[in-house]
Amino acid sequence: MVDKTGTARPAERPGSVRTAVVWDALGPILSGDPCDVVDIGGGTGGFAVRVAQAGHRVSVVDPSPDALAALARRAREFGVEVAGHQGDVSGLVDVVGPDSADLVLCHGLLEVVDAAEALAAIRAVLRPGGTASILVAQRHAAVVARAMAGHLHQALALLDGDETSERVGARAGRPTRRFTADEISGLVEQAGFTVRAVHAVRVFTDLVPGSLLDQEPGAAAALVDLERAVADRSEYLPLATQVHLLAT
Ligand SMILES: C[S@@+](CC[C@H](N)C(=O)[O-])C[C@H]1O[C@@H](n2cnc3c(N)ncnc32)[C@H](O)[C@@H]1O
Repeated sequence: MVDKTGTARPAERPGSVRTAVVWDALGPILSGDPCDVVDIGGGTGGFAVRVAQAGHRVSVVDPSPDALAALARRAREFGVEVAGHQGDVSGLVDVVGPDSADLVLCHGLLEVVDAAEALAAIRAVLRPGGTASILVAQRHAAVVARAMAGHLHQALALLDGDETSERVGARAGRPTRRFTADEISGLVEQAGFTVRAVHAVRVFTDLVPGSLLDQEPGAAAALVDLERAVADRSEYLPLATQVHLLAT
């Protein structure tokens, strides 16, 4: 979308607190020449549309027709083209073709599918030298959040494994998996990737009350600075709501 000054308005505020660290990590890739990007489980296109705005050729593969319809509306709104395909990660290579992507986004998906199979599918569509951007829910932060909300039994149950899902995007009743940074790094390496970077995402964002951010001038920007400052510090990984990996 173009605003009254003729300037393209990004799909999300550039400083969006929750995703700033992920965009920072993707920056060096997205600032390069136009490339082919596949967003598997891309949903309504929160990432895909912004990647398309940066000039890249983007395909979203997602089983949800509602999400794909919302993606199409969002792409129209922002004046970019994103190819939406209804499909499952297990059939990814049939949809987009082998060796067809320079960058695959896999954000918020490995929690609800067979992670090893999904990573194999991603590897099959990545060109040699391509990059996978993997964003997953981090288990320890969820344990702490449950305990702080008084859901102590849930916190205990979450300590070591799966839980039943109540999340948007995952079918209710399906197991949702959360990962430690070591677990997801191990799975990614087992799938044949080399992990290039691991980032802590949303270390503080989910702990700071939104009302405080609204009332304090400059607080949102300061929070982004804080998130950025700890993103590469491994001691903050167990506190992060999500872990982000770049793998080749
Ligand atoms: C939590 S949402 C994440 C959306 C987006 N990637 C983001 O980060 O904003 C998970 C998405 O995965 C999709 N999904 C669920 N099962 C899938 C599967 N087997 N293959 C591909 N996508 C799937 C859902 O429809 C949903 O859009």
